[in-house]
Amino acid sequence: MQEEIFVLRIGHRIDRDKRITTHVGLVARAFGARGIYIVNAEKEIKSKIDEVTKVWGGPFICEIIENNWKKFILDWKKKEGIIIHLTMYGIPVEDRINEIRLRKEKKLVVVGAEKVPKELYYLSDYNISITTQPHSEVAALALFLDRFYEGKELSLKFSNAKLKIVPMERGKRVIESRI
Ligand SMILES: C[S@@+](CC[C@H](N)C(=O)[O-])C[C@H]1O[C@@H](n2cnc3c(N)ncnc32)[C@H](O)[C@@H]1O
Repeated sequence: MQEEIFVLRIGHRIDRDKRITTHVGLVARAFGARGIYIVNAEKEIKSKIDEVTKVWGGPFICEIIENNWKKFILDWKKKEGIIIHLTMYGIPVEDRINEIRLRKEKKLVVVGAEKVPKELYYLSDYNISITTQPHSEVAALALFLDRFYEGKELSLKFSNAKLKIVPMERGKRVIESRI
């Protein structure tokens, strides 16, 4: 099921956004993206996300990039594929998701933190809103990926997982794999 869909996190504020940026990465992985690129952030965020991938499986890559976001986006457009920017000002997800799913190119989903530079709206192939209300990059990303995968990500199987949960009504059961 996993398409070539990646996430770019821009505008991360050192210290202040540590937890929420980590959550953007964890949601990207759990909901079926192949990786996350984070512009200018603490190395511990990558360590935390990589640790989760090591224990719970992948494939998923996490990279902290030191280049500016614009260069990354221009390179992506030239060499990789399309840009989908999540913003409350964009076109409702339900009006564009089928078209986006049909696109064959690799996809980069961009989420912000503080106010996003105006230029991003013009560089993006799609500016997509998940409701036209202000909320969170974590919620916006989760819902976008769910609509993109039409719910199939809920039963995604992760490769090389050391731990797997056996779902149950009550209690906790985790099995260790021998890999
Ligand atoms: C806390 S918001 C801050 C947005 C900022 N006030 C602005 O105007 O750019 C952080 C990020 O969450 C995402 N986001 C928040 N609400 C959204 C919505 N309704 N639809 C899509 N993305 C949203 C966007 O990616 C945004 O950059």
